Amino acid sequence: TRPVRVAPSLLAADFSRLGEETRAVAAAGADWLHLDIMDGHFVPNISFGPVIVKALRRHATIPFDVHLMIAPADPYLQAFAEAGADLISVHPEAGPHLHRTLQTIRSLGKKSGVVLNPATPVASIENVLELCDLILVMSVNPGFGGQSFLEGQLGKIAVLRRMIDAHAAQGGQEIALQVDGGVTARTAPRCIEAGADVLVAGTAVFGAPDYAQAIAAIKGTA
Ligand code: DX5
Ligand code: ZN
Repeated sequence: TRPVRVAPSLLAADFSRLGEETRAVAAAGADWLHLDIMDGHFVPNISFGPVIVKALRRHATIPFDVHLMIAPADPYLQAFAEAGADLISVHPEAGPHLHRTLQTIRSLGKKSGVVLNPATPVASIENVLELCDLILVMSVNPGFGGQSFLEGQLGKIAVLRRMIDAHAAQGGQEIALQVDGGVTARTAPRCIEAGADVLVAGTAVFGAPDYAQAIAAIKGTA
């Protein structure tokens, strides 16, 4: 069985204490920190930008997984790279040239990800697989934490798992398969079974009294 990583989403943290919250989840066993960037245009909510990412960088050494829900994304890639992102993910709908956007992320020395909304087909990434370090399947419509898991996305995860494994078998690079939205200790096993290996969880971690226990429960090691 493949190792499962958990990336708590800071969107569900106490925004008046983001530094403390970052340190707390890192100490609680978070593998990555998931940072949701929303512009009130690509998604109907506004969160925070590169200034906050940069301010948090000194609070933890775990990888910063930056999920851009902004359009256009291209003018801001460098700012997020310089702020300390390790991985930058973009939605194909955020710009006309996904291939170029992924090349830009790689040229900034960062890992690149593509995010598929619930209505976005797997075909949107087929021709850019060699430029992806991560594929993120949204199991809610992006914009808000605390929504319920869309079961219908499990089939997409399974299709992508086969595609990623076939790519690796042909000598292609490793690609992480991430799920984001409504992931809890109850829905996580189904994501893992379908082939996901990085689970994003906001409410299920930051809404829990014990972050370490919540992360372990999502990983299935509690
Ligand atoms: C939704 C964000 C998610 C969100 C997940 O637009 O991309 O990362 O914070 O929150 P939960 O885990 O509460 O569904
Ligand atoms: Zn996210």
